[in-house]
Order: sequence, then structure tokens, then C-alpha cells
Amino acid sequence: MEPIPSFAEELSAWLGARFAAAFPDSPEAARAGRVVPSAKAGFGDFQCSDAMQLARPLRMPPRKIAEAVLAGAALPDCVEKAEVAGAGYVNLTLKGEALAARAAAVAEDEAHGGVPQLGAGRTVVVDYSSPNVAKSMHIGHIRSTVIGGSVVEILRALGYEVIGDNHIGDWGTQFGIIIKGYREFADREAIARDPVPELERIYKESYARAKADEAWMDACRAETVKLQQGDPENRALWQDFIRMSRHTFDEIYERLGISFETTRGESYYQPQLAAMVERLERAGLAHESRGAVVVDLRDLDPAFAEQSRKAVEAALAKNDAESAAREDGKWICIVRKEDGGFNYNTTDLATMETREKDYHPARIVIITDDRQIPHFQQLFAITEKLGLVAPGTDLVHVAFGTITDENGHPFSTRSGGMPKLKELLDEAASRALAIVREKNPDLPDADARALAETIGIGAVKYSDLAMDPITTIRFSWDAVLSLQGNSGPYLQYAHARIRSLLAKYAEAFPGEDWRAAPILLGDPLERALARRILAFPETVVAAGAKCRPNLVADYLFCLAQDYSSFYQKLSVLKAEDPAVRAGRARLCAAVASVLRRGLALLGIRAPDRM
Ligand code: ARG
Repeated sequence: MEPIPSFAEELSAWLGARFAAAFPDSPEAARAGRVVPSAKAGFGDFQCSDAMQLARPLRMPPRKIAEAVLAGAALPDCVEKAEVAGAGYVNLTLKGEALAARAAAVAEDEAHGGVPQLGAGRTVVVDYSSPNVAKSMHIGHIRSTVIGGSVVEILRALGYEVIGDNHIGDWGTQFGIIIKGYREFADREAIARDPVPELERIYKESYARAKADEAWMDACRAETVKLQQGDPENRALWQDFIRMSRHTFDEIYERLGISFETTRGESYYQPQLAAMVERLERAGLAHESRGAVVVDLRDLDPAFAEQSRKAVEAALAKNDAESAAREDGKWICIVRKEDGGFNYNTTDLATMETREKDYHPARIVIITDDRQIPHFQQLFAITEKLGLVAPGTDLVHVAFGTITDENGHPFSTRSGGMPKLKELLDEAASRALAIVREKNPDLPDADARALAETIGIGAVKYSDLAMDPITTIRFSWDAVLSLQGNSGPYLQYAHARIRSLLAKYAEAFPGEDWRAAPILLGDPLERALARRILAFPETVVAAGAKCRPNLVADYLFCLAQDYSSFYQKLSVLKAEDPAVRAGRARLCAAVASVLRRGLALLGIRAPDRM
């Protein structure tokens, strides 16, 4: 299907040509004419404010400029009227039929919902969720999983081939600590019952002992070395830990409706690490420093050198030589430790190399909390310098804020720690179940439970996705589980209400088919709704470009609100004129289908009844 043209683009092209024709000698006028949706009702559907910017270069009052631009202009087919308003705005009002036809085209485009396929023929790797083996997924991990899941859907809607990659933490010195503890004091029964919390307990206890007891520490190190050298017993244990953890993670993914194209943990890249360090050395980017091999970022990038210089100077100005030394060290990226082992940096460099080789991605998106911002700055700088990915590859780190307790403090183990993800989902589903039972007392139990799960998961996901990823979240049960106001269930409910309205329509007017009825837009509230529908494709484009699902969430909330204003004032089933009635039904159906499509981009299901 041909892409559905956007009014903003079409009108900008037309008005741009008018500006250029009216002021052929002005380079500023040649760039003018950008048209955007009007901010307020009563100012047309689209407007342009460029005449104001041109007043100075053209030495003319803005209103005169706008008048000259419109003088004698033939209007494009879709425009009803063009007028100069206020200080010098050009306001454009669309013909109702044109607006209605295009809104219908967007909403009724089964395949893409009017979203331009900008990513066709390109691949994106999205690295998300990525929890660590032998640790429970807590609500901190929900952010990467939920944001990542939505970014995947949004990019797919834009036509990209998306490879979701779960880069699990399945390698590192912690395995020696766990193996040692497992051998000495594992509770086999607890492992059989619910392995991950027990593995977590073993890790914590063994780690505490290692800190207090040198001999224990040495024994842990020895286990790590044995594992790395391929000792069959340790390898088998390690594989068991991974299997048990993945099983637990998979239960959560299943519940959240998340799946990955590939799960390559850190261990996958281990065979490449020695060669990676050699490659860095050969390229002159890495050198030995006190037994370790490091990349000095200050050599790598003048911007890093400058940032480092400023940080060190600031510390010295405070007469603090010690922190100056620390700042200086921060610009050094270790790729092989003194003991010959490799680390997170080396693994991530190898990961980039492999992704380029296997997928030639146009973009790599990695989603983690904001404490890793410096890591990814370093990683991307080295990746580009070494040419690990093709020039022009877009490397994106989506950093999200951490979750704190209700008072803004970090969750501490002493205060019981972060609520576990499973607990949170269970609580959400049970709160939703109470409401479902109240509203639909005769729904069979299994259906009520399934519906409650959909609503509960929708609430948890939405509370996260409605916020710009970078914001820090103060955890509150009430906010996460909110079923009203700007929440997932509110949007699900808006959708379900329209579906049931359409069902009633079919019952009341069996012979009538609204699907073919023209949408009439006689009322400003209908017009507003049609304009909102039209903004769906550009919203998805922006959300994909910035990896920000919250733009979709904001959009859907506005759409649901526009719908509710429309529905409060105008009747559908009770409209007197059958043509108006049918047109409104089609408009309602259009809103429902955009809501459903938009919720799907957030990974939220839209049931037909609630
Ligand atoms: N496992 C890491 C963590 O829990 C996140 C990994 C993110 N991806 C990556 N390629 N570094 O913090």
C-alpha cells in the first residue's frame, strides 16, 4: 500500500513554495513555511508562525508578510480556507471530507495504522532485560524489560527487522563465590522448591564470608579459575545455575508477554575476548599499565580529554589531590585486569563486534539503568574508533532512572529490599480481580481471572511506560496498581467501552453498515478526534526515533480524553439522523482501533469487554 501522506508535510511543502514565490530574493523565506497542528481550537487545523521570524530580515510587519504569502494563492485540494490571524500566523482549515477521509485511512489501515515504514530493509538490535543469573528479578529489572519490550514493538511498527537480545549476566567472578557456597551450605530442598532465592542467599552468605575470611576468598577464586579452565564439575554446576535462573525468568517473560529473538549471555562472547584485546593493542588504542591493559580515553577522543581536564582542574581548585587522581583514573577503561582476566568492558566490545558480523544493524539500542551511562559512553567511543561497527551505525543507550522507595531512598536489604516482580504482578492481578468481580458478577471464574491478569499487567506496565525513561521513580503500590486516571486500565476500559457500543449498534440497527458511512465531522469535538487520530503515525515516528514509549502513552491518554469529551456531549446510538449516527459509529470504531494498536505498542492487551 502507498504510504498515507501527512497533512503537515503536504501543507508545509505548499506553504514553503508560497513563501519562496512571494520573496524570491530572501534566503530566509526559502526555508520558511513549516506547518504544525494548531495548538488551540478556533485557529484552524494547522498553522505556521514563520512570518514572525521573517519580520526582521525582510523588514516588514509579520502580518503583511503573511498576507503577501497568501495573496492570490490557489489553495491545495484539502484546504477549506487559509487566513492570516493574530500577530501574523497563517491558519489553515482543512475540508471536513479530507480530514475525515485521512483519519479513516490511518485507523483502518490494518497492516500499519498509517505508520510510515521508515525502517523497511533495516535491522535494529535491542539489548534489554538482561538480568543476572542467580539473582531474582526485582522491580528494577522490570523497567528494562517493559521499556525494551515496548521499544521493540514501536520499531517493528516502523518496519524495522528487530532482534531482541537478552544479554544475561551469566559469567564472572561471582560464580566462584556461588559454587563454593553451594558446595558448603546449600539447602537442597530449598533449591528444589524455588532455586533462585536460595542461590541468592548462597551468594550473599558466601560473599560475606569471603570478605571476612582470606582462606574462603582464596577458595572462591580457585573455583572461578577452575570454572574458566573448563573443569567439568564446575561447568555442570554453572550450567545448572543458568538453567534454573532462566526457568524463573521465563515465567516472568511469559506473564509479561515478552519474548526474545536471541538470548546470548556474557559467556557467549568469552572465546573472543583475548583476540579483542589484541585487536585493540594492534590498533594502538590499548596499552599496558601496571600489569593491566587499558584504553586511555583521553587519547581516544579530544572531548574526553577536555572533560577529564575540567574535572581534574575542578578537584585541584578545591585543593583535593586525591579526588583529582580519581577523576583522572576514570578516563581509563580497563580491558584486561592485572590477573589476566577480562571484564564487562571487554565482553561488551566483543558483543558489538558480533552484532555487526551477524546482523549488520542500522542501530543498536541497549537499555539499562542510568548508573551505566559512563560505561556506554566509553563503549561507544571505543567501538567507533576501532571500527567494530559500520560507520554511521546508530548506537543508543536508553538510560532509565532507578526506582527508590516511597521516601526517595534507595531500597535497602534491611528494609526488606525492593518488592519482587512476581509479588508485584500477583498483587496487581488480585486488585484487578476484585474490580472485575464487582463489575461482572456473572463472568465465569476462569474468564474473570484471565481478565484480571490482563488488567493487572496493563497497570504495571503502563505506570512505567507513561514516564520518560530517564525519570527516577518513587515506588508506590498505589501508583503502580492504579486502575484509574492516567493508567493502563483507563485506556483498556475506553477501548472496551467503544467495542460494546458498536455491539449495541449492531443489535439496535441490524440492517445498517457503518463501515461504509462517511465520517461527517459536524461538531468541533468530532473534528478534534479526527485530528488526534491523524497524529498517530507521527507519534510513533517520534517515539521510535527517541526510543521513548512515553510519547505513545501520552498520545493514547489524550486520545481517550478527546473521546470522552466527544462521548459526553454527542450521542451515537441516539443521534436522530441515521447518516450522523453511522458516521459517528465509524469514528468511534476508528478511535478503538487506534487505541488497540497503540496499547499493543506498549505491550498492553486491549480486551473487548471489561
Ligand atoms: N546484566 C547487566 C545488569 O544487570 C545489564 C547488561 C546490559 N547489556 C549490555 N550489553 N551491557 O546490569
